[in-house]
Amino acid sequence: MSEPADRRYGPATLPRARGPLSAAVVEALRLPAYDLPASLGVDLDPADPITDEDLQLTLFLCYELHYRGWLGVDESWEWQPTLLALRARCEQVFEAALRRLVGSPPVPVAGVAAGLAELVAADDGPPLAATLQRRADLTQFREFVAHRSVYHLREADPHSWALPRLGGPAKAALVEIQTDEYGNGRLDRMHAELFRRTLDRLGLDTSYGAYIDVAPAVTLATNNLMSLFGLHRRLRGALLGHLAAFEMTSSLPNRRYGNGLRRLGFDEVATRFYDEHVEADAVHEQIAAHDMCGGLARAEPALAPDVLFGAEAGLALDRLFAAHLLDRWAAGHSSLRAPAPPALPPTVPLVASTTVVAPPAPPALV
Ligand SMILES: [Fe+2]
Ligand SMILES: [Fe+2]
Repeated sequence: MSEPADRRYGPATLPRARGPLSAAVVEALRLPAYDLPASLGVDLDPADPITDEDLQLTLFLCYELHYRGWLGVDESWEWQPTLLALRARCEQVFEAALRRLVGSPPVPVAGVAAGLAELVAADDGPPLAATLQRRADLTQFREFVAHRSVYHLREADPHSWALPRLGGPAKAALVEIQTDEYGNGRLDRMHAELFRRTLDRLGLDTSYGAYIDVAPAVTLATNNLMSLFGLHRRLRGALLGHLAAFEMTSSLPNRRYGNGLRRLGFDEVATRFYDEHVEADAVHEQIAAHDMCGGLARAEPALAPDVLFGAEAGLALDRLFAAHLLDRWAAGHSSLRAPAPPALPPTVPLVASTTVVAPPAPPALV
């Protein structure tokens, strides 16, 4: 396989450190796997774990070893015990912060599907989708897409970790959803590939993980949340609840994102990812709430509270993400972190596409 194709599907280049802990991990990952000092991370106590750049990047560095890995990094690090121990310390801090943020949403007598509907109905986040539909300029829209690329280029992967942990109706429902997400096995219909075309149309880098370096902690946290739920069997209820909330709050925002791109002059290739989700997720939300989460709660009633915890955690982090973008834009700033300095050896150019249709020449992202 050629080098550009490798870049397209990962692994990503190791990002720059954002503090002492992520610096220690980045430095370690450049070497063959070895035992890290036992003292690393033991005094971890960030003021706000969810927006702490060093903690969220450290978690992301650890989790990515279970997805595509990192370019040039020894694959043995994935199961290196001392790195796993460090990850566990970070996860304890992150999960505790999530539980403080969300609390324990009560499971109504009517069941988890009704509980999910209540959470979604009460979800009154900042109006990011409406802003992107009506007012955002091209630079802001490209920023939004760059943030989302961290997830959408591996869309559905974290929730697939639930598959071997389930049986019966919940598993069948999850398979039905994931089959759509993966384009029914057709590469050109995989949602991740539809999103890659949106990136391309907007003149953005289509490489896997291209924007990790400029993604702030809150963006990494929305991804780390899925990895936390996905990599721990005990959190399978939260993982399914997260997916259900995702599907139940997808249809209308995606219509708005597509309309926003049309307003900016982009064609149906650019909007297809969003248009596809308007239709697909109207179906998925029913399957997710009733068949998948309802099926899990019927089979394992003790997991019902975690279903709602996972759903509300996803909604809450999305609200923080939306607030971050809107606040930064309102203050006249970029919502992304400062770009990386020129790297050695050479990297893929930031703007990889020559097929932007309109407007023809987007400015540099940041
Ligand atoms: Fe999707
Ligand atoms: Fe979906």
